[in-house]
Amino acid sequence: MAKTTSSKLLYWISGPRLPLLNLVAALITCAVIMARRDWVFNPPALVRLLDIIARVSVVFFLLSFVARPLNEVFHSKPTRWLQKNRRYFGLAFAAWFLQHLWLLPLAQVKFNVFGRFWMTGKFAFPAITILLSVLMVVTSINRAQRSMPGWKALHWIGMQALWTWFLVIYLKFVSLRPDPYVFLYVGLFISAQALRMGLFARKLIKKERPARVSTPDVALGKQQQSA
Ligand code: HEM
Repeated sequence: MAKTTSSKLLYWISGPRLPLLNLVAALITCAVIMARRDWVFNPPALVRLLDIIARVSVVFFLLSFVARPLNEVFHSKPTRWLQKNRRYFGLAFAAWFLQHLWLLPLAQVKFNVFGRFWMTGKFAFPAITILLSVLMVVTSINRAQRSMPGWKALHWIGMQALWTWFLVIYLKFVSLRPDPYVFLYVGLFISAQALRMGLFARKLIKKERPARVSTPDVALGKQQQSA
């Protein structure tokens, strides 16, 4: 009975509903934070919001980052579900993370929160990363996946750029803001990449092995043996 309810719930939050619900949740969060500050935008509220949207988006980012490798390792029902909904986890990440698109310009125009930071090279990498996230969302439809040249490269580079910037920030936080969740996130980011790289290396090794076995002589010898 309980199992049916949990499967039903899983089914209900699968697919496009997942990012849509998250978009609603992200917008409500923004509204609530501002309501607590008397519906007035002010720098501390904006910074708090940036922290929250980034922190929540990490969870969805990591799930979409490891969905495929996790399923390759475990082949279980939840990991199959995760892999099948990988795109929607990516979009749920964007639903939170891309609140940057209105929060950052607002913070700058109204309060000059970032000051001269905008003019420096330091701004380039995170800005490009946000742009890549937008491109990934726009090209997340089936048609683009099937027909767009460079689709795979775009999504690979985008995911790696996000992973890199998240890790850079949380590594900085290890000394600046050493909360337990910071250590947890750093550990999860490093483990997720290690898992992906490990499986990639395993695939490369597997690819090399049959090539050595199936040289013409060996293949012929095998045929003769079986005859
Ligand atoms: C130019 C673009 C960006 C600007 C101006 C910006 C600005 C900010 C600001 C002001 C904060 C609050 C910092 C504080 O609490 O003192 C913040 C938090 C954060 N941002 Fe960004 N951000 C940008 C892009 C990005 C990107 C691309 C990522 C990740 C790939 C990212 C990830 C984070 C994280 C992880 C936090 C902290 C969340 C936490 O408190 O756990 N940001 N950002």
